[in-house]
Amino acid sequence: MERWKGVIEEFREFLPVSDKTPVITLLEGNTPLIKANNLAREIKPGIELYLKFEGLNPTGSFKDRGMTMAVSKAVEEGAKAVICASTGNTSASAAAYAAKAGLKAVVLIPEGKIALGKLSQAVMYGAEVIQIKGNFDQALEIVREIGQQYPITIVNSINPYRLQGQKTAAFEICEQLGRAPDYHFIPVGNAGNITAYWMGYKEYYEAGKVDSKPKMCGWQAAGAAPIVLGHPVKNPETIATAIRIGNPASWKGAVNAANESGGFIDMVTDEEILEAYKLVARTEGIFCEPASAASIAGVIKSVREKGMFEKGDVIVCTLTGHGLKDPDTAISMGVRPVTLPAEREEIVKYLGF
Ligand code: F0G
Repeated sequence: MERWKGVIEEFREFLPVSDKTPVITLLEGNTPLIKANNLAREIKPGIELYLKFEGLNPTGSFKDRGMTMAVSKAVEEGAKAVICASTGNTSASAAAYAAKAGLKAVVLIPEGKIALGKLSQAVMYGAEVIQIKGNFDQALEIVREIGQQYPITIVNSINPYRLQGQKTAAFEICEQLGRAPDYHFIPVGNAGNITAYWMGYKEYYEAGKVDSKPKMCGWQAAGAAPIVLGHPVKNPETIATAIRIGNPASWKGAVNAANESGGFIDMVTDEEILEAYKLVARTEGIFCEPASAASIAGVIKSVREKGMFEKGDVIVCTLTGHGLKDPDTAISMGVRPVTLPAEREEIVKYLGF
């Protein structure tokens, strides 16, 4: 069995690296593309539905693909510190890769609005964690200004190396399917990932590795849907805190991905997100975080309201992060364990045998 070497080594020919680039890797990538037959049957029998489970990256989200590139290039360029704004996952990933590289990491997060698992990660990896009394958009604005004025490298997706790394997920999907999908469904927050996937699919197509490209279908949360509404949202609100963003940095990239591919950007409500979040766990045994379920909620809405998909259509959903990052949302779904005495009889009686 060949050992996986991380996305930089595996896709070196497609990435802006040279022999001089020190490769900082936690062996990210190579995540499973899981065929979701049970879920497909629930949504629309006859479709071929696949889940790219990015929650199985080293820090539990797709950010690691971008962070291996951003941090490796930062080290190559002599940086001593990195900084990012985050709704949680970027901060966890930046902190981990900075730890691996021996760099200082500074992360700005919106106070009280990031999932517990993500906060624990940033703290454990040794980052300087600064909570601001504001939202992600404000945090990113501050980070942009600091990055311009002081010797610290920004590792948000406005750093172009991030998207370079993240595009490798599209390569993997093409390799795993042996073709490009017909549709790619993906959550949209700061809009970097949809931009990166589209770049990846186009590059693989242009390199002759596949003979088609998918329609890119991006999904925002209804309370944080600036691209759908056509204007920034000042106070974005959604249970899917990862995508609680009102003024995405890669707005144009997302619109371009949707338009060029013949896809679209649309939105789903928190109720629709939570329905999909529960459904994928119960039917497929896959626990993703709420923001990730926006892609599945999007497939459900596309069937219900747009009458989309023909028999045999190949649809890939990116599940961007692991459900364990946000235990509070899972527990708040209302299913509680029962408590019984430590007696066999009581348990048998409860089970109704
Ligand atoms: N899903 C998850 C789990 C995320 O953490 C994010 C973004 C997205 C989807 C949206 O991806 O921003 O490229 O459109 N999280 C960023 C963060 C903003 O700070 O962790 P996007």
